[in-house]
Amino acid sequence: MRLLSLRAATGWICAWSIFGAPLSLQADEAKDTLIVETILRLEDFDLTGSEKAQAAVGRYLENNWGGERYLDLITRFDLKSEAPGVLKLALEKTDDPVGMEAAKVLDALGAADLLVATLHGKDAAAAARAAKAMSHLENQDLNTELSKVLADSSRPVMVRSAALAAIYGSHPDRQPKLLAKVKADELAKDLRQAASELLMLSRDPKVREEAQSLFAVGGSDLLAVTELVKRKGDPARGEQLFATKTCIVCHQAGEIGINFGPGLSEIGDKLNKEALYKAIIEPSSAISMGFEGWEITLKDKTPPLLGIVTETEENLTVTMIGGAKRTVLKSAVASKNKLAQSLMYPGLHRLMTTDELVDLVDYLSTLKKKPKS
Ligand code: HEC
Repeated sequence: MRLLSLRAATGWICAWSIFGAPLSLQADEAKDTLIVETILRLEDFDLTGSEKAQAAVGRYLENNWGGERYLDLITRFDLKSEAPGVLKLALEKTDDPVGMEAAKVLDALGAADLLVATLHGKDAAAAARAAKAMSHLENQDLNTELSKVLADSSRPVMVRSAALAAIYGSHPDRQPKLLAKVKADELAKDLRQAASELLMLSRDPKVREEAQSLFAVGGSDLLAVTELVKRKGDPARGEQLFATKTCIVCHQAGEIGINFGPGLSEIGDKLNKEALYKAIIEPSSAISMGFEGWEITLKDKTPPLLGIVTETEENLTVTMIGGAKRTVLKSAVASKNKLAQSLMYPGLHRLMTTDELVDLVDYLSTLKKKPKS
């Protein structure tokens, strides 16, 4: 290097940065990928026996965090040292299949204590995500940790709500217990919101019905729609209610929510206030086209599927509340019945005061197609 003139050196550096480095790095990455693909296919490959393979795997994991073979590799070779990267994936992608898988891999590596440390840590957002990640695991010890958080009133409500959802949300059989707690007034006041969302969206219609009467705040004093449309609300508060009163579980508006029911980003163009009130108060009075609910029973006598149905020549796909999809062969279907009821639960307005309902409808009526600029 000392022998190179300055000019030559600069030229060499330029050439290196334009051609050499990216290309050779790409070539190295391709080589690593090839090695990784190959050893994953070799059943008895002993990674500890080859330094070269170890180095390739190490580089691959570093360059492909969360990628296609990332979790496969870690599971296959029981790479405990990779646990921090897996934790990050489990926390950042809590709603994606890859994040759920990451949580399971973490548990399988014997590193679920990293989730526990995050759950008990100071970062509230991370702790809430850790609780969610734990909900994908069947690990009794984790349940004990979640229960500790639930009982500790010094923890932020966001974290305790996530713990509540993790304990009761994924286990429908535990929901009657939660109902009983709410009834006996054993649940902290600031967790009622989280409990109401969870129970109102239970798969069990009995739990849903009981939850509705339990959490009803409006309802009995609800004015007629003709009176409601005369009231003026606060759309900014309505936007917050859209997120907290379960609407986002089934509808997208702007950037937020899941599209299970119709998207509502331009609903203000389609429905006037009267129709908006009716859509919320009596969802079954006018069910929007293509979003009818169906009950599909299968010949194998597994529990019937409830949801929105799309069909191809051979298959039938049921999208269930929450967005999960199940595709079956048409030949496996025993019966197919259209429901008279909307898949949108009736009585959601009872979770709100009349003022809140007015705010929500005012917000929805502002959702219009953006004028072309
Ligand atoms: C469990 C899922 C679910 C929840 C929760 C839910 N909806 Fe719906 N919603 C639907 C489905 C499915 C439809 C379409 C069938 C129908 O029209 O009843 C619908 C229809 C609507 C419509 C009519 C849309 C149109 O294009 O005609 C409006 C407005 C609406 N919902 C508002 C809300 C609001 C506001 C909330 C929260 C208070 C809410 N929904 C909660 C599932 C849901």
